[in-house]
Amino acid sequence: MNLALPLEFQLPSEYYQRIQEVSALAESMNLTPYLVGGAVRDLILRAPFRNDCDMTFTGGSISRLAETLAKKWNFKHLNYAQFETHTLLSSEDFHLDLITARSETYSKPGALPKIARGDLNSDLERRDFTVNAMALDLTRKNWGKLIDPLGGLQDLKQKTIRVLHRKSFVDDPTRIFRAARYAGRFGFKLELQTEKFVRSAIGKKMIQQLSGDRIRTEIEKILIEENPSKAVSFLSKWNALRAIHPQIGWSSTIAKTMNSTRTSKIQNISAIAVRMALWLAQNSGFTAESVLERLNFTKDVRDRIAQPLLLHIAFQNSYPMESIPVSSLYPETSRVFEALISVNKSSKGSRGWKSFQKWMSVKPELSGRDLQKMGFKPGPVYKEILMKLRLKKYRGALSSKEDEMRFVIDNYRRN
Ligand code: CTP
Repeated sequence: MNLALPLEFQLPSEYYQRIQEVSALAESMNLTPYLVGGAVRDLILRAPFRNDCDMTFTGGSISRLAETLAKKWNFKHLNYAQFETHTLLSSEDFHLDLITARSETYSKPGALPKIARGDLNSDLERRDFTVNAMALDLTRKNWGKLIDPLGGLQDLKQKTIRVLHRKSFVDDPTRIFRAARYAGRFGFKLELQTEKFVRSAIGKKMIQQLSGDRIRTEIEKILIEENPSKAVSFLSKWNALRAIHPQIGWSSTIAKTMNSTRTSKIQNISAIAVRMALWLAQNSGFTAESVLERLNFTKDVRDRIAQPLLLHIAFQNSYPMESIPVSSLYPETSRVFEALISVNKSSKGSRGWKSFQKWMSVKPELSGRDLQKMGFKPGPVYKEILMKLRLKKYRGALSSKEDEMRFVIDNYRRN
């Protein structure tokens, strides 16, 4: 099979031209270039391009190749020497990984692999699934020729996720999340043995070998999928969620709510925050907090997730507005409530959210300066008076600045 045409017409032209340039330069340095991994899979599936290409080279070190290109294109160059991988990045989000063909061994489950230079076959054999273990020959002579020693094409046609060996999920338990993500994204099923291996690795508590950061990275990748709930449903079916946190729940309602936020316009970080909040909204505050801790989210994302959860709990328990410690709203918070309200039809939640939006918009007419002019000495009483005014105004008991002044004069003593 030759994929020269899809390569030319499915890839954005900037990627295509740069891949041509990399390949020609590599050949002039006696390296053999290949396109590998997800980009090959997506070309065959005619799936949308994902802004990220991996190229593998055989024939020696690729340091000079990467340095030359980075200089010529004026791209940022990251060198992961430990993995003989170079990443070239442009300011416009162009992302190209250049990798020396290698084999991998794992010293213990969940550890990062030790690598050794290898040929193309060993580089394909170290990969996660057959559908991700195909390459395109990018030499001038064989431009676009598919190399598929492990049956990836057949599995793509049969919509099947299949590992390359029985220890794959034990060596690298992040592949459990990857299997769920691809099965969810493409509507594929796991091949029978592969599903047994997944369940066995989960049963042997392999996910627990991963750091919170590595699990979070996988969860984040799932949450920015167009339809994340399918992948999470697989994880739930395999009993993998318990390994993240014993109390984390999953239900068809959460799935529906999460999917209702589907929009390509949501930025990654927002999609992660909105969807994670929707996922955790049915849990107790305590569970939600310990899930966020386990996954070690950054402070910013954590705050964005926590705000709607805090409000949700406050509304469910009818906390008084003035006791809710939120002074400004993240845009994600509205998205979470819109989704919760449209799917769950929870009257407490929607009433609470409406009231809270009104509460946030209410500001007393009087300011601290006005209180000073009225003869009140600055101090903690200002805060008390202004809060009282806000509450009265929110309840409709005060409608003008004069009303507010009257209320203050009648109820507080000047000193
Ligand atoms: N890979 C692997 N095991 C992992 C991670 C990655 O074998 N735990 C290999 C796979 O061959 C994969 C390639 O490295 O195709 C690139 O990984 P990544 O960029 O994460 O995935 P893509 O296949 O590009 O898929 P996508 O970005 O669409 O998820």
